[in-house]
Amino acid sequence: MKQRVVGVSVPRKEGAGKVTGNARYIDDLSLPGMLYGATVRSTVARGTIAGIDFCDGIPWNEFTIVTADDIPGKNAVSLILEDQPCLANGRVNHAEEPIVLLAHPERHLLPIAVASVHVRYETQRSIHSIEASERGEEIIWGDDNIFKTYLIVKGDVDSVWSDAAWIVEGEYSTGAQEQLYIENNGVIASFKEEEGVTVWGSMQCPFYVHKALMALTGLPEDKVRVVQTETGGAFGGKEEYPSMIAGHAVLLSQKSGRPVKLLYDRMEDMAATTKRHPSRTRHRTAVDKNGKLLGGEIEFVIDGGAYATLSSVVLSRGTIHAGGAYYWPNIRVRAKAVATNTPPHGAFRGFGAPQSLFALERHMDHVAHTIGLSPDEFRRRNLLQSGQSTATSQVIHEAIDLNQLLDRALLLSSYHEKAKQFAAHNLESSRKKGIGIAAFLHGSGFTGSGERYLNSLVGVEATELGDIRVLASSTEFGQGTNTILCQIAAEALGIDYEDVRMAPVDTRVVPNSGPTVASRTAMIIGRLVQSAAAGLRQTLIASGFLAGSASCEHFRAACRDYIRRFGKLQSWSRYEAPPNVFWDDTNYRGEAYPAFAWAVYVAEVTVDTATYSVSVDDFVAVQEVGKVLHPLLAAGQIEGGVAQGIGYALYEKVVWKDGRMLNNQMTNYIMPTAQDIPPIRVYFEEIPYEYGPYGAKGIGELPIDGPAPAIVNAIVHATGKSFCTIPLLPEDIFAGLANLRPQGIAEVRR
Ligand code: MOS
Repeated sequence: MKQRVVGVSVPRKEGAGKVTGNARYIDDLSLPGMLYGATVRSTVARGTIAGIDFCDGIPWNEFTIVTADDIPGKNAVSLILEDQPCLANGRVNHAEEPIVLLAHPERHLLPIAVASVHVRYETQRSIHSIEASERGEEIIWGDDNIFKTYLIVKGDVDSVWSDAAWIVEGEYSTGAQEQLYIENNGVIASFKEEEGVTVWGSMQCPFYVHKALMALTGLPEDKVRVVQTETGGAFGGKEEYPSMIAGHAVLLSQKSGRPVKLLYDRMEDMAATTKRHPSRTRHRTAVDKNGKLLGGEIEFVIDGGAYATLSSVVLSRGTIHAGGAYYWPNIRVRAKAVATNTPPHGAFRGFGAPQSLFALERHMDHVAHTIGLSPDEFRRRNLLQSGQSTATSQVIHEAIDLNQLLDRALLLSSYHEKAKQFAAHNLESSRKKGIGIAAFLHGSGFTGSGERYLNSLVGVEATELGDIRVLASSTEFGQGTNTILCQIAAEALGIDYEDVRMAPVDTRVVPNSGPTVASRTAMIIGRLVQSAAAGLRQTLIASGFLAGSASCEHFRAACRDYIRRFGKLQSWSRYEAPPNVFWDDTNYRGEAYPAFAWAVYVAEVTVDTATYSVSVDDFVAVQEVGKVLHPLLAAGQIEGGVAQGIGYALYEKVVWKDGRMLNNQMTNYIMPTAQDIPPIRVYFEEIPYEYGPYGAKGIGELPIDGPAPAIVNAIVHATGKSFCTIPLLPEDIFAGLANLRPQGIAEVRR
């Protein structure tokens, strides 16, 4: 049957509210008698707290003051482990760690009050790099500074080295990156003895916050309510951190008996909240005389910061993606997440994959160069084919042809013509031009058995007027959740898009459909919406109120009649794994993801060898994400991901000093502006995925994986110099071209 709503660029559900200014963000809301909260943070990276002094000149009796002693339940931000305190308990393990909370009716008094709380420390030696953590210069977490390790083994990589025509090694590293959502983090909490606690806020995962607040307050499930307010961007940065802020606001509200608003300004948000994990990846690769991969040894390490938070899961995704979209007959990936005395690094679009894929895709160019093949030809000989298996031995059953995707990207970018033109141009010009490729994949949904554990539930219900509400905890934060889920429901019900809306994401109203992360909303939640909606339609038909092919008018009448007779009309759907998805958590083998999205990106750059600045001049993004549900939103996801990837590669550098971010302002943490973004030419291949809604797979994270390696590959092509670290700033290019710094690559040629 022809689809009417899915695949059409319908108006965004929350679009009108946003463009007219009617949308109400957390800072637009207030409650009667509300106080404002603020956080006193550690100024040192590691030490014990010897005392806290409240200096003269502040009317402290007017303030609500909360310390760890005021916590009624467990002093932890409950997530995977409970190692991270909500408020420092006698010691600190990173700068910016929260120690004291203050609240007052006058917002303007808070900064001076915060500055008037003096914490005395007995400082201890802190560690601030992966290497210092590995060496165990100080043991700051557990017995060995290691949050988590993984090992993937396929075949016997030890047997390949003696037969290899080439063995190529490389080391690659990536820096921290700030999510830079437009709206900073913020919540309002209100505690009432009878009702319990309610939190409204800017967040991705209301049920994460709900769980954390139950542990912190000791309140039962029904006495904790979490409501997502309009959320101005997230990118993973509002995945785990809102549990911390919500906890703080709740503690202040419990102690004061008043509602409390706690908002971070940009500087506090950048300094204190999570960023993308820095990483280091080492590759050792064996290739035969025909340019085919024989085997690879990969060592992948990420810097988790001071507490475990989500690092084990970020590491998992990064580890599984470390072999990328290639066929490795033999591979071993060893991975670990280590502790340092920096604020915990956390979820950020891509979730570990941008790090390991940067390394892999740079390394693929490096191998190609070493063995004398062009980057596209070397990839062509090794890209996964249908029927072959990934590093975790997952056989690819999708009818994907990656060489066709590669050909399309080469054609659309005029790759070969340009490579030729640039070679001639670069002989004559100090503005060196280059072109670079990245080929990659991104797994949709939670890793491994994750989706089974989540056990997500989604509902669709009708009102007596015949309006449809989708009940899901999936949040909108700019990426299009509301729109695509309503499209899917309308399509499945056979009604108009305008007649469907999302229920407010309020833990009292919607079921737990899992968090809004991991490129799972379209594919996993979308599928549940589709089946719940189909179930509702079926109920109407089976009860005789609706004929098979009814108009919207008939549908409304049928809902009304049904509800008058039976009271309510709801339909639920719970996640079930597609058949043939098996994951072995012990050996890290099997179907790591129900499906992958695939892509080949091509970047064209100019490197000015007088100023060492780089411009990205053209960008071609070809991807296969299954059915495209909303062409405009889908293209927007890709364009946004590429822009964010340009920042990751060329601009966004977190400057650390003793574990503190020094450049925590948008004036000195430089992100790309519209001027720095080239034309981004987006193309979709659509191979409908059998178990996705109308064939859709995940899309949100894929486009952050490819731009950085494609761009740096283009810079290497332009300059003839091997760069292996991002961010790659003009001073780094200067140092590289002037041979001031070794580039960390060892080649073994046999
Ligand atoms: Mo997340 S990085 O929002 O999966």
